[in-house]
Amino acid sequence: MESLIGLVNRIQRACTVLGDYGGDSALPTLWEALPSVVVVGGQSSGKSSVLESIVGRDFLPRGSGIVTRRPLVLQLNKIEEGLQDYSEFLHLPRKKFTDFSLVRKEIQDETDRMTGKPKQISPVPIHLSIYSPNVVNLTLIDLPGLTKVAIEGQPESIVQDIEYMVRSYIEKPNCIILAITPANQDIATSDAIKLCREVDPTGERTFGVLTKLDLMDKGTNALEVLEGRSYRLQHPWVGIVNRSQADINMNVDMIAARQREHEFFARSPDYGHLTSKMGSEYLAKLLSKHLESVIRARIPGIASLINRSIDELEAELNQLGRPVAVDAGAQLYTILELCRAFDRVFKEHLDGGRPGGDR
Ligand code: GDP
Ligand code: NA
Ligand code: MG
Repeated sequence: MESLIGLVNRIQRACTVLGDYGGDSALPTLWEALPSVVVVGGQSSGKSSVLESIVGRDFLPRGSGIVTRRPLVLQLNKIEEGLQDYSEFLHLPRKKFTDFSLVRKEIQDETDRMTGKPKQISPVPIHLSIYSPNVVNLTLIDLPGLTKVAIEGQPESIVQDIEYMVRSYIEKPNCIILAITPANQDIATSDAIKLCREVDPTGERTFGVLTKLDLMDKGTNALEVLEGRSYRLQHPWVGIVNRSQADINMNVDMIAARQREHEFFARSPDYGHLTSKMGSEYLAKLLSKHLESVIRARIPGIASLINRSIDELEAELNQLGRPVAVDAGAQLYTILELCRAFDRVFKEHLDGGRPGGDR
């Protein structure tokens, strides 16, 4: 049985290619009904680093200052053990990337193509799909960091522009939020938590992530936060140790970084007892499990939208006539097929089928 998240990913991609073509149909609503995970936090809080650790590959531009300047929609697809990792951009169909440093370069180039100048931002997302035996099925969205002042070369409006962009993603009820706060900063000043409290006051769709635990002042620890006493969320807080800039400069690889992260917790007198519930690998599993359960809970809603879409798409295609020559027709047809597949799969899931292929 195809996994629910896998199918949802394919529908999301197809809807994106189609762009606004859906017009008044159920398609845009369908896209919005599909859940995804968004990272939110201040500039250089470690958002891109956390995403990279979840994926287990080096491929995102990272560093100090404003590096992420367009939303990046990242679809992780688990493939069979033994197959080689590769990735594809939506704007470069049929080009398979197996060298992940070229993926990073393409993200940078494509960011510049749209924003024109350095330090500028654009709300137009870049779509990237990663296929690997080592990922969990998950859709993640990386966003520019919240900031407090415009720097040289940026328009004054950039502070509000970024907040507006971030809000437009996280205020959707289907959005699962990864609120990133660096541990070497007071949680009371966390931009991520401030914004999440506004859009998700009950904390049911917010996962608190505490980065930079290795950079805390000696003699202090983050137990108050990690054990939920400083700021309570419905989900447990997860502590993370990403690679430092020095590690990045020295090309410390992902496997070594994960191993070191694990050892950081296991050997820590403060966090040792929490080791099994800390780190990026644990966070990835937690998220995938949660996403799957959210999709499952939303099946009835998504299903009725999909049924509406199927009806509308059929009517649309009849008008276009088959065989469909134009691109839009072909895309509509693809979405129709996917919706039908989804319809079948969710019925299997509801019929008490084995719970999903997702792990
Ligand atoms: P973003 O701007 O929020 O996407 O943050 P980045 O992921 O680009 O990270 C900003 C800088 O902080 C980079 O130089 C990272 O190496 C560093 N960094 C991120 N997380 C950690 C961490 O947990 N520990 C340490 N020591 N450095 C980190
Ligand atoms: Na940064
Ligand atoms: Mg970033």
